[in-house]
Amino acid sequence: VIFLKLGGSLITDKTGVEAVRQNVVRRVAMEIATARQANPGLRLVVGHGGGSFGHVVAAKFGTRQGVETVEQWHGFAEVHAAMVRLNRLVTEALLAAGVPALSLQPSASALCENGRITQIAAAPVLAALDAGLVPVIYGDVAFDSEIGGTIISTEEVMMALADELQPAWLLLAGEVPGVLDLQGEVIPKITAVNFDDIKPALGGSRGTDVTGGMTSKVKSMLALVDAQPSLSIRIVTGLENGIVQAALTAPENAGGTLISR
Ligand code: IPE
Repeated sequence: VIFLKLGGSLITDKTGVEAVRQNVVRRVAMEIATARQANPGLRLVVGHGGGSFGHVVAAKFGTRQGVETVEQWHGFAEVHAAMVRLNRLVTEALLAAGVPALSLQPSASALCENGRITQIAAAPVLAALDAGLVPVIYGDVAFDSEIGGTIISTEEVMMALADELQPAWLLLAGEVPGVLDLQGEVIPKITAVNFDDIKPALGGSRGTDVTGGMTSKVKSMLALVDAQPSLSIRIVTGLENGIVQAALTAPENAGGTLISR
């Protein structure tokens, strides 16, 4: 099983409002289709972030920090609706490219406790894979027993599914060629051993991002490979032609940044 996340920074213009990069979405969908044709046994789960769709509304209502008032609950519904609008564009592009994409709504089954996912339905994702489909999940809102409601990022949804799906790879396709050092060069490999050395180079995020920038992403990815020893993570660019396809075909030598134990 491979998890592929299409970052919000890749598929949208994160500095705008609901601005999709339609040409990127279309090309990446074609690359996924080509990779599946080359390897029909590929069990692929696609996820996508919010970019300029979810984050702007979520920031306005502070949804990640909790949901209480009538107005905040309205915002909760609006954040979800924005994500569904983007999800529709992604799944339509995948279907048009010949990929049997099936959208599965994380907020329909995820439950959180103080911002952490405590349960999520993995069975429909597995059933979709068994049926030869490509399940598509996304960063979404979620009900929370402590703080009412919150936001769950694509990575958090994927992490919650990892126990049951046991992915060998998590590929994170973004707008940067990998994790960059202070000189702007791609760091080929990050482990718990060199994390402290490269930490000063990790910044936040361009545009509005309620789920944290690069530092928190790398940190949680290191925690994830620690918890899932058979998992490796690769951060690649989706802006360059053919990289997503190459990463799906041969993830072990696809360039970008490898995060592993
Ligand atoms: C954010 O998901 C989802 C919402 C704001 C609702 P992600 O955290 O996975 O999105 P990106 O990739 O950073 O945009």
